[in-house]
Amino acid sequence: MVIEPRRILEQLADGRFHSGEALARSLGVSRTAVWKHLQSVGEQFELEIHAVRGRGYRLVRPLEMLSVSAIESELGATQRAALSAIELFDSLPSTNRYLAAGIDDWGAAGRACFAEYQTAGRGRRGRAWISPFGANLYCSLYWCFDRAMADLSGLSLAAGVAGARALGRLGLEGVSLKWPNDIHVDERKLGGILVEVFGPTSGPVAAIIGFGLNVDMPDHAAREIDQPWTDLRKSMPRQTGLRNRAAGLLLDELVKTAGLFDSEGWRAFHSDWVQFDRYVGRDVEVQSSEGAKHGRYRGVDQDGGLLLEQGGRTSVIHAGDVTLRAAMKPL
Ligand code: BTN
Repeated sequence: MVIEPRRILEQLADGRFHSGEALARSLGVSRTAVWKHLQSVGEQFELEIHAVRGRGYRLVRPLEMLSVSAIESELGATQRAALSAIELFDSLPSTNRYLAAGIDDWGAAGRACFAEYQTAGRGRRGRAWISPFGANLYCSLYWCFDRAMADLSGLSLAAGVAGARALGRLGLEGVSLKWPNDIHVDERKLGGILVEVFGPTSGPVAAIIGFGLNVDMPDHAAREIDQPWTDLRKSMPRQTGLRNRAAGLLLDELVKTAGLFDSEGWRAFHSDWVQFDRYVGRDVEVQSSEGAKHGRYRGVDQDGGLLLEQGGRTSVIHAGDVTLRAAMKPL
């Protein structure tokens, strides 16, 4: 009998001991099957499971598993009605890839998907997105835009605004956006966005907005990250139910943003983006198709392009990666 990982992990999520007998009874399998299943789940998802004779099994690191009903409870009625489905998977290669694979079937309504674990999570510019089990958020939204492809260039920045608004509603302070769409706290990356677009250049265009948000990063995963990072748990150590609430608020804001972007475009988000942009005037390095450029960051233009000042001249960069150079400290 195949036991879904979620069924057993939901019971162990509290980090307390659960006897093999009680687990076997609730799942309707033998104690040996429980033991074998836990071994394979632990290996598959890199979860440390502590087994003690006479006491049972416990997860060394407690988890808050996602629940579709908890996520849905954070959505406004309009946002809920705009979605034909909210799916939750134990594991996917990538939530973006899952929605992209079914794009011909999804139709006109929006659709969201979450995964507890990604085996091939993707970041911008071909990088990997570290996606440990049950610890962070991996979410993608499919949306159809009645616009030409060129109009969607500001969508990933608008999605950053959605993330910043959701985090503000969650009670997180000091959120900033780093061009084009990194979510930062204290100059460390808390989340990132990967937008992929499909369809004819003249439109309509289907977009998949993928959002990764660090909630409670385990040490084994943190070791693989090659840039300054942070997670929600560091800023909100005592808050319970953080993962589901963050997931619901994020989806609520992403759906609102997609609807507003379809009708108004990037201009509806420009002034909010500027409010969350705390890096104007900083020395930066920008990696783009033209190579690396050093200069002073001067904010974004009316189309969401990055303004880079070099030797008194300002140019606009439309795609690339920004690294902040160390801020000058007062002597
Ligand atoms: C970045 O490099 O900053 C973008 C990261 C985007 C990660 C998210 S996690 C959910 C979705 N699925 C993916 O494979 N990537 C995005």
